[in-house]
Amino acid sequence: LRRPEMYANLKVRHVVAQAMRSALNKRGFLEVETPILANSTPEGARDYIVPSRPNPGKFYALPQSPLQFKQMLMVGGIERYYQIARCFRDEDLRADRQPEFTQVDIEMSFVQENDVIDMMEGVFKEVLEAAGVEHEFPLQRMPWKEAMDRFGCDRPDIRFGMELVDLTEIVRGCGFGVFAKAVEAGNIVKAINAKGAGDWSRGDIDKLADIASANGAKGMAWIAYTTDGKEKSPIIKFLGDEVHAKIKEAMNVEPGDLVLFAADTFDIANAVLSALRLHMAEALNIPRDGHKLLWVVDFPMFKYDEETKKYAAEHHPFTMIPKSDWDKIETDPMACGSYSYDIVMDGFEAGGGSIRIHNAELQKRVLKRCGVDDEDMEVKFGHLIHALELGAPPHGGIAIGLDRLVMLLAGKDSIRDVIAFPKTSSAADPMTGAPNEVTTRQLKEVNLRTL
Ligand code: AMO
Ligand code: AMP
Repeated sequence: LRRPEMYANLKVRHVVAQAMRSALNKRGFLEVETPILANSTPEGARDYIVPSRPNPGKFYALPQSPLQFKQMLMVGGIERYYQIARCFRDEDLRADRQPEFTQVDIEMSFVQENDVIDMMEGVFKEVLEAAGVEHEFPLQRMPWKEAMDRFGCDRPDIRFGMELVDLTEIVRGCGFGVFAKAVEAGNIVKAINAKGAGDWSRGDIDKLADIASANGAKGMAWIAYTTDGKEKSPIIKFLGDEVHAKIKEAMNVEPGDLVLFAADTFDIANAVLSALRLHMAEALNIPRDGHKLLWVVDFPMFKYDEETKKYAAEHHPFTMIPKSDWDKIETDPMACGSYSYDIVMDGFEAGGGSIRIHNAELQKRVLKRCGVDDEDMEVKFGHLIHALELGAPPHGGIAIGLDRLVMLLAGKDSIRDVIAFPKTSSAADPMTGAPNEVTTRQLKEVNLRTL
């Protein structure tokens, strides 16, 4: 902490937090604190749980977000709420994930998607100015499908190109079995063109296949076009001249290019090429200076988990579905859209939110679709559903990941650098030694025994 750099990071955090508060105060928002000893909310991670001494065998869950509380505040007539809120999620940690982190959590009544987005752009403008960053407004709004098609991910770094190109139709029925079979099975074939890597050695290219397989690929076909005009590839001979020529045209190939392919399901092919795109940008030193923000909108409502064979909410199950899709909740869930939006900065999800369901019946249908049974519906969501039955205003909001925003503004690679006393990747605090063992007596008091 004595290093000037650490002080500077905390200062950026201070400036951003104060600018957020000031921008929201000006817009009539009320700062409200909500409980930390709370119950489980389905944000998708594992809960941190705390035993309750006066209630043997019962536990609090630390909030993964204040979502249910802010919805209740809307029902209660607090029309504009915000909170710089600590959230807790027991999930695998990464450079942009800590077990406890901070959201600027915001909710408004009587709004539609555009109202939240417009209001937030005003707030971001002020916050960026306070942090000394210039950015153009209004921000670009990119539908989720377009983000997936062009960048292979829902948080695209749009500061550089190397976009994904869909070759499915070009390789349909071609002589290369891997591609032809993928298309036949209803999957997709896509590629990126890493300009400047055409002279890479076979060994270096083969190493890229590790990135592909780490993202689920069964292989990584490639064609290298060397600067002296040669073509190297394990697959050209199978493709045939005609298909190869079409691929070259689609990929805008020049000498010095390296084309990397993925033939797989929509999810895997996109994940593979998205990871390769970011890796190649780093490896080729492609300039990614400054900051670029955009909205990603129109997420699908549901995703399907092949392992559990269950549908889950893409954002969370309180997200509003356009009325024209309501009758698909039971019959064709994957075709249900949603009023949801993420704000993406430099390839990071800096925040996300949605318009909420304010109709009890619809809320029950969506929870049911996500596998919540009648008992859990009452125990876990009874308060919310009851509140909606009493008449709730249409409402929606967003939560900004303060740590990530500050990390990007401070030019750091990890949110640990902008958190005072962060945790290690095993969720420990080396300074205080937390988490610690407790005495047998303490355990007994809360009715627990360690195995
Ligand atoms: P979501 O789960 O998208 O939405 O979280 C909002 C933002 O919080 C940040 N974030 C994290 N930052 C650091 N470490 C983590 N482990 C972590 N997890 C999330 C991200 C993310 O965009 N209740 C909803 C919001 C809403 O609908 O209003 C929610 O929590 O920047
Ligand atoms: P194979 O016929 O399995 O030897 O594969 C020939 C080439 O295609 C190799 O370069 C593999 O890495 C590549 N390949 C195999 N499966 C896929 C796939 N699903 N997507 C992209 N390339 C693949």
